Amino acid sequence: MVNIAVLVSGGGTNLQALIDAQQAGGIEDGRLALVVSSNPEAFALIRAQKAGVETAVMRRRDYASAEEYGAELSALLAERQIGLVVLAGFMTVLPDSFCKAYENRIINVHPSLIPSFCGEGFYGLHVHEAALKKGVKVSGATVHFVSGVVDGGPIIAQKAVAVLPDDTPETLQKRVMTEAEWVLLPHAVSDFCAGRLTVDGAVVKVR
Ligand code: GAR
Repeated sequence: MVNIAVLVSGGGTNLQALIDAQQAGGIEDGRLALVVSSNPEAFALIRAQKAGVETAVMRRRDYASAEEYGAELSALLAERQIGLVVLAGFMTVLPDSFCKAYENRIINVHPSLIPSFCGEGFYGLHVHEAALKKGVKVSGATVHFVSGVVDGGPIIAQKAVAVLPDDTPETLQKRVMTEAEWVLLPHAVSDFCAGRLTVDGAVVKVR
């Protein structure tokens, strides 16, 4: 059984998708063991508490450097024997040392089809604003392993979603979440915990 930690900063709808999947028996060989929020006000914390999942708050500003933040987080995860870290709307950049220590054991969900609309500055609603500004007709979501490069690690799964003529960033965000993110993330987490993912360089294979 893999102990899963979910790192959050906001509303936590992706965390909710994981909670719902767990309750429906959809996460094979894994259990949500810990939710860490970088924001004490995050609604995600309430979702975790309601589901009976342990929570912790770690604000970036309480640490002198990203390194210190990463070290403290590593210690907490080690204590709870965490085998998989999920970034679900986590808005704090983790240091290289942390990403290396958890290589191919950190999964992130990003609200676009990587390599479009990703990297520094592309998070949350900004991603959908950029997609609409570019006039793309298809967007979507990506679930990937985290490397030292922002949104640069091996891709596990992607799902395309139509962009409609009257979309606003908010309507597009909602469609990408419901049709892609909330479907892909629990699936990838289950595949990881059941040992179905193998990483060969930049390529992830799903058995
Ligand atoms: C989600 O759309 C997630 O993909 C995005 O933030 C939102 C968090 O929503 N993450 C990023 O942009 C990371 N680069 P949630 O708190 O309701 O899950």
